[in-house]
Amino acid sequence: MDKEIEIYKTQDGSLGLYNKRLKEVYHSKFGAKKEAFEKFVEPCFILPSKPLDILDICYGIGYNTKTALLYLKNINSIDCVETNPALVRQSFCFDFDEKINKTIENNFKNENFIHFFIEDIRKMIKKTNKKYDIIFHDGFAPYKQPSVWSEDLIKEISKKMKPDALYLTYNHSKPVLNALKGANLYIGKTLKNSKTIGTVASFNKELIINPLDNFDIETLNTKSAITYKDKNLNLKDEEILKNRQKEVNNSTLVSLSHIIKKRIKENT
Ligand SMILES: C[S@@+](CC[C@H](N)C(=O)[O-])C[C@H]1O[C@@H](n2cnc3c(N)ncnc32)[C@H](O)[C@@H]1O
Repeated sequence: MDKEIEIYKTQDGSLGLYNKRLKEVYHSKFGAKKEAFEKFVEPCFILPSKPLDILDICYGIGYNTKTALLYLKNINSIDCVETNPALVRQSFCFDFDEKINKTIENNFKNENFIHFFIEDIRKMIKKTNKKYDIIFHDGFAPYKQPSVWSEDLIKEISKKMKPDALYLTYNHSKPVLNALKGANLYIGKTLKNSKTIGTVASFNKELIINPLDNFDIETLNTKSAITYKDKNLNLKDEEILKNRQKEVNNSTLVSLSHIIKKRIKENT
């Protein structure tokens, strides 16, 4: 394991990773396995039974792919994209069902239905002609790594979705929701005990069980929802953050707090 990465026990007992340099977790402290199931795989149960092509963006140590292998029937292919090869190798023996770990390792050494792309998703997405039924998007937080959440990348990702595909992420920040809206996707919330824990998006409205409500949509017309821009998919994270900050400073859009206050006033 890289020196900058620490292993820690998450609240469901499964192991997660923490990056000391980025000061960022790879997996939810509430449960690495729980997160993969609730935010990425369980929402896919709505899909009809059919051969599934999956794109796992930011594979890490593969909890999302492994959980998909555990619960989804008829997986036709999984394309896993990850920049850190050490993590992919680590995934062969990391805290999961041994048979599934072995399947991953065998597929890495001798590619069968799981394919590994050890590269930046921004490069991979432009090269592939494939269309997917399921997309897992699991980058670090946008304010740390906006390059994996730009409106430009999300638009490219949306082009790789079949008409009935589902896009899943833990992320429900305003700039990401706004980028999904800009890609003409219907957007919904992944809920657990009435709390939003993630986002689902699709070109097929019928696959969205808990759509954003009118107020959620109104919040996307505020400064807080200004998207990250990376037109040629090649900017550094710092540049993307700086450019967005400039755009926010020069924006004439209302602030999020303004419309929240307005809403509270209307309801009292
Ligand atoms: C939040 S972690 C994902 C955890 C992972 N899904 C798992 O189950 O272990 C984010 C991952 O994205 C990878 N990453 C960062 N930038 C990337 C990029 N541009 N393209 C592909 N992967 C990237 C990081 O190395 C890291 O492993």
